[in-house]
Amino acid sequence: MPGITLGDLAPLWEESDTIAVMTTDTSDPTPVSNETIRTQLAHRTIRAFTDEPVSEDIITTLLEVARHSATTAFQQQFTIIRITDPDLRAEIGAVSTQPHVKSTAGELFIFVLDLHRNAQIREQAGADLAPLSRMNAYVHAHDDTLIAAQNMVVAAESLGLGTVYLGSINADPRRMIRALGLPKYTYPIVGLIVGHAAQTPQCKPRLPLSVTTGVNAYPELVDPAAQLEDYDREVQEYYGTRDTNTRVDSFTHIIANNLGKGVAEQSPMLEVMHEQGLALQ
Ligand SMILES: Cc1cc2nc3c(=O)[nH]c(=O)nc-3n(C[C@H](O)[C@H](O)[C@H](O)COP(=O)(O)O)c2cc1C
Repeated sequence: MPGITLGDLAPLWEESDTIAVMTTDTSDPTPVSNETIRTQLAHRTIRAFTDEPVSEDIITTLLEVARHSATTAFQQQFTIIRITDPDLRAEIGAVSTQPHVKSTAGELFIFVLDLHRNAQIREQAGADLAPLSRMNAYVHAHDDTLIAAQNMVVAAESLGLGTVYLGSINADPRRMIRALGLPKYTYPIVGLIVGHAAQTPQCKPRLPLSVTTGVNAYPELVDPAAQLEDYDREVQEYYGTRDTNTRVDSFTHIIANNLGKGVAEQSPMLEVMHEQGLALQ
């Protein structure tokens, strides 16, 4: 990979967002608010957890919330694997390489795209399996999987717990599939750690509504650098206030220079999906 250094290949996820600064503005930032909305607007990824266990009652509740998520065409094409085996957690930590995954703190769940169950149902009924290998089926199952994961995130945060998604498990999808013993027509989409936060990071600023929202038409940027100048400054200020990381990159700099260089962004995903019988046509 010409021009890419080892440093560039490090995961792009940020390892440590420890910062003591919390906003002192307690007024609601939206015209309408309630507990759910306040929780969602206060979202921030947590990457350090205490050893306090998440109670079994909470875990059951989170799994129930995920189970009740909306699902494409009522096909329910995801499975959640809870990791309680320390050796398996260590193996997933080795794939991810991230300290919060290698650590034993927090509950780790793997959200698996799952067309296998429906393949079994169809096979038993003598129905054709070809539709399961279509890209369409893959996308629908992917939608189901992430919607379930995000519902779990919202529920966990509403209970005062911290969460971190783990796209880093995609650094080596074959090793993940082996470790979890995943059958054909499944794929490990994302991991999620839920736990008691051992840090209080600041909320990371998002692109303005005017950029990410269109009304009846796509909101095309005319001059991205100029239009995102204020946002770039905001992101630089956010990085500037963090006490453990000297990075002060702007958003446009990150997108122009880092996108696509992380290990999980370069793993042979499509090849492995095909090996799993997915997204073939
Ligand atoms: C699908 C997905 C995968 C992610 N994967 C990782 C990951 O592997 N490791 C990590 O530390 N953070 C991961 N994140 C968290 C993002 O880095 C984080 O959401 C983003 O930087 C914005 O920060 P915030 O969530 O604190 O607002 C992931 C987020 C999403 C939505």
